[in-house]
This record gives sequence, structure tokens and C-alpha cells, in this order.
Amino acid sequence: PRHLLSAGDLTRGSAELILDTAERIDQAMAGREVRKLPTLRGRTVVNLFFEDSTRTRISFELAAKRLSADVINFSAKGSSVSKGESLKDTAWTLQAMGADAVVCRHSASGAPQQLSGWVDGHVINAGDGTHEHPTQALLDAFTLRRHLGRLDGRRIVVVGDVLHSRVARSNVLLLSTLGAQVTLVAPPTLVPVGVDAWPAQVSYDLDGALTGADAVMMLRVQRERMSGAFFPTEREYSRGYGLDERRRALLADDAIVMHPGPMNRGMEITPGVADGVNSVIVEQVANGVTVRMAVLYLLLSGEMDGGL
Ligand code: CP
Repeated sequence: PRHLLSAGDLTRGSAELILDTAERIDQAMAGREVRKLPTLRGRTVVNLFFEDSTRTRISFELAAKRLSADVINFSAKGSSVSKGESLKDTAWTLQAMGADAVVCRHSASGAPQQLSGWVDGHVINAGDGTHEHPTQALLDAFTLRRHLGRLDGRRIVVVGDVLHSRVARSNVLLLSTLGAQVTLVAPPTLVPVGVDAWPAQVSYDLDGALTGADAVMMLRVQRERMSGAFFPTEREYSRGYGLDERRRALLADDAIVMHPGPMNRGMEITPGVADGVNSVIVEQVANGVTVRMAVLYLLLSGEMDGGL
């Protein structure tokens, strides 16, 4: 209850508490000349990033600053990690400096879980390997709720490199908890072992899955995590699994197009669709700040404890 490590740890009640708190924060911030709340004054948030990030790192920094916390940004590059310091010794260093919350991104699945055993502060998983990215799922759910209302029975299609996607796993766990029906579509070589146990359907028929769906979430093809040639060529991939205007038109009329970013434009999504009328990709980024403010606030105030 002290940490946010997995979207699977969130009950429907705790997930809705976070999303409702984010809505309240958004309302409290609206129209303010100084876009800052005093809530976390005197608290310290450490952004501990062992893997590259644009959106998550910046939005956690902005979220903590908008709550008036002191923020320390740590990236492995330029730190003593490059001299061989271990995660455990890095954690003890943070502990000695009194971090109230540690936001951790790491290329190793399970690193934030390990970290939570070494520090007293609250640990938030900001993406661990191919495992989970719970705050991405929360900002996606927030965006979906804003457009679709309650998610019960809504059909959401998640397409692409599911094998390497922490975003897909966290979204499947959270969106199913919120009552949505999730369908995963991927090339057979990019479907994870054990997907049958996920609370989602798996389909290899993209056009069929998209027809009448309420939302589509395109995943980035993560070439940096692929060692072998177990992946179609770029052209085959786009033809089989890319979202273009023809496929977008198969969705329900009020459906939204999502992508967590960063995008491979022209590969998993055409620029026209990424920037088109139904796209909420930029909105997802903006919502990330609000949702991360809610997570930091609830964890650091202790109000999350009852819900998890
Ligand atoms: N969506 C996401 O996690 O993006 P970054 O890798 O830029 O943080």
C-alpha cells in the first residue's frame, strides 16, 4: 500500500480514487495564475532514471514541482552508477538523504520492487524493463474516461509489440479492473508467452478487432529490446499492424486514437492519423502531469493506504 509498483495492485476503488483525485487537481489548477499547490511543501521526490525517458521524467518533475515538493533528478548517465555503483548502494545513498518518494525507471523488470525493500520512502514504478508502467496506464485510463465516460463494457484494442511492452501489460491489468474489454493484436512473434493468463483477448485480425472499437492504443515497436530477426520488415509490419486512415475509419464514430510515445511515425502509425482529429496523443502527455500529481499526493499524504 505504500508503493505503486504494478497496475495489478490497484483495486477498482483505489484506481478510481487516483483518477477522481486527478480530476479534482485539474479543477483546482484551472484558471490559476500560479499553477502550484502547496500540498507537498518540505517533501523530497527523487526521480531515479536508469533508462532514457522524455515524457515520464519531465511529467514527474513537473508534477512534484506543481505540488511544491523539492525535486532531485538523477539519471544513471553522469552518476556514480557509471563507476559501477549498484542499485542497492544507490538506494542507501538516497535513503541517507531522506527521500520521501523515489520514482524509478530501470531496464530491469522488478528493479522498483527491489528498491522498495531498501528505502523507507514511497517507490513509484516509472517503467521497469518489459514488465510494467502503472502511471502510464493511469494516465491512459484518465484520458479514456474523459472521452468515453465509464469504461464498463468499452472495447479497447491494443496493437503492436506487446512482447516488449510494459505499457500493454499495465493497461490490460488496469483497464480490465475498470470494466473495459481489452483486445491485444500483435504479430505472432511479438506476443508474450503466458498471454493466455492476461485478462484480455488476443486476436491476429486487426481490421476485425478495430471494427466498432471505442479506442485503439498503438504500441511502439521497441527495436532496442530486439536481439534477433524475429520481427517482420518495417514495410510488412506497417501493412499488417500499422494504423492508417483506412483502419482508423473502422473504429466507432467517437473512438479515440492513443499512443504512449515515443512514436515511430510511419511504422506503427501514419503521421496523418497520429495528428488527426481523433488522436489524443498530445492530451495523454498533458494528462500525465495531472495523474502523477494525484499519485504523488495520495502516496505522500497516506490517503492511498485505505484504498489498496
Ligand atoms: N510513454 C513513455 O513512458 O514515454 P517516455 O519513455 O518518454 O517516458
